[in-house]
Amino acid sequence: MDKKVVLITGCSSGIGLSLAVRLASDPKKTYKVYATMRNLTKKERLLDCIKGLHQDTLDILQMDVTDRTSILNARDKIVEKRVDILVCNAGVGLMGPLEVQSMDVMRQILDVNLLGTIQTIQAFLPDMKAQGEGRILVTGSTGGLHGLPFNEVYCASKFAVEGACESLAVLLKHFNIHVSLIECGPVNTDFLINLQKAELGDTSLQNVDPQTLSLYEKFLQHCGSVFQNAAQDTEDIVKVFLDAIQSPSPAFRYFTSGFVPPLTELKLTHPDGLQYISAMSDHIFSDNEQQRP
Ligand SMILES: NC(=O)c1ccc[n+]([C@@H]2O[C@H](COP(=O)([O-])OP(=O)(O)OC[C@H]3O[C@@H](n4cnc5c(N)ncnc54)[C@H](OP(=O)(O)O)[C@@H]3O)[C@@H](O)[C@H]2O)c1
Repeated sequence: MDKKVVLITGCSSGIGLSLAVRLASDPKKTYKVYATMRNLTKKERLLDCIKGLHQDTLDILQMDVTDRTSILNARDKIVEKRVDILVCNAGVGLMGPLEVQSMDVMRQILDVNLLGTIQTIQAFLPDMKAQGEGRILVTGSTGGLHGLPFNEVYCASKFAVEGACESLAVLLKHFNIHVSLIECGPVNTDFLINLQKAELGDTSLQNVDPQTLSLYEKFLQHCGSVFQNAAQDTEDIVKVFLDAIQSPSPAFRYFTSGFVPPLTELKLTHPDGLQYISAMSDHIFSDNEQQRP
């Protein structure tokens, strides 16, 4: 049987790297993986993980999701001339008070997370439609389902990805192409190292009002403890990707922790949004530990 051809974006580290390694190591050699990354000088980490094995199931290609030429060049290098499973995973974070974010930085986040995802899909969509089947998986975030303070632009980008994917899914159903979002909470990756973050004491924060700075400090502490206590490993996320990839009728949304986060549910049970805003505010900013779920 022909191998399933998989292309994954953002494989220099984290979720993309782990997924590439897992699929390329499949004992039945079910997959041919094109692990892409924007900077090939970072490929050693992936090569270290596969230890010279899987030469027939893994290729590494350069692809910057913000650069259409680079996407098309990668597409042209696919030997099989088709992609069965496209994984749009590349993404970057941005954290800090909104008033200090420059247009350039905000554009970069939207360029990678939103337009990068969309233009990657655009490049492979006509062939998938012509094939009459395919899978598109996107690494989503609970930050694309509910708002988080000091993450306005990141959440905006991930909310927008939800809208783009849901819209596409309605259409692509008619082409036997399944779109799935893998909704991740905190995951132990390089994400926190790679994200663009305003540090307390940075000169960029000197004109920010004291109340915002004090809330930002609380948010950073909250974020640190969430990542320390509740972050999943990439292996947990990869299992969910595999569920979606192997399912004959995949869901549109998968939650990596197995259930819809309680605070996200509040948005459905109380659609005016006020319960969510109060609950999230208490969750992050309350000094009373008892109130934290
Ligand atoms: N970790 C979490 O807590 C978490 C939670 C929810 C959702 N997510 C999502 O998970 C996805 C993967 O993140 P991760 O946690 O694995 O973090 P990561 O280790 O920082 O990986 C992000 C990957 O995206 C790549 N990337 C960034 N800009 C790119 C571009 N222009 N073109 C191609 N690749 C680019 C990075 O490449 P470079 O090495 O070149 O920067 C890196 O390979 C992201 O979409 C993120 O939003 C993560």
